[in-house]
Amino acid sequence: MHIEIVTLFPGLLRGALDYGVLGRALERGLVSVGLEDPRSHTSDAHRTVDDRPYGGGPGMVLKPEPLCAAITAAATRVPAGSARIALSAQGQLLTQAGVAELARLPGLVLVAGRYEGIDERVLELMIDRELSIGDYVLSGGELAALVLLDALARLQPGALGDERSSAEESFAAGLLEGPHYTRPEVFMGRRVPQVLSSGDHAAIRRWRCKQSIGRTWLKRPELIGRAPLDETQRALLQEFLLEGSVRVTGEQTTGSR
Ligand code: ADE
Repeated sequence: MHIEIVTLFPGLLRGALDYGVLGRALERGLVSVGLEDPRSHTSDAHRTVDDRPYGGGPGMVLKPEPLCAAITAAATRVPAGSARIALSAQGQLLTQAGVAELARLPGLVLVAGRYEGIDERVLELMIDRELSIGDYVLSGGELAALVLLDALARLQPGALGDERSSAEESFAAGLLEGPHYTRPEVFMGRRVPQVLSSGDHAAIRRWRCKQSIGRTWLKRPELIGRAPLDETQRALLQEFLLEGSVRVTGEQTTGSR
């Protein structure tokens, strides 16, 4: 997958590309990234990329000419069938299902806005969709582009050490993951759940499944509303709740976990 990022701060992105799963995916050529700076598409002495908003008001707006030229240049380097996405707090909320859908594309042009925003005509003429990474306002789309890039890179076949990891993790099945433990077996008086060192793989799978459902119910109950539990899962949830002596009182939940 080839991803082009249009940004006024290419250095900010470059600095983040060397690390972890994303760094490895780039090194192995599973993902490639290009950066395009609208400032290099200006022709005035000040290399102006922004201007005052028509109608007045605070802040500056990204001028259409350098931004369009940068998007056009970036678009020549992505394969046919790629999408052009602007990162913006006004966009559709990014979800794991949305990331998985984008990961099937051959490439993307990601446009990171700055200042008060992008001239609307650029969005109308050059952008397929707007995406937001959450209901809060960032000072630019760069960090959002990095979030999306990271989430995409780890879904590329071969990016994770163990291919099961991305299928089993939080949100892959619409549920959160259960807890993880490593040595020592006892830490500050707390023992790793016995079943995990039992060697009984069926029991471990069942326990993990139960923890996953239980955690989701406790931490993100709205996720269960979106993907209702089947009968087996409901029984596991019941067991989880009984074990933790969780009391359900209307909207409120308390427990000993
Ligand atoms: N730019 C500013 N805020 C943003 C957000 N929440 N998501 C994506 N891009 C943004």
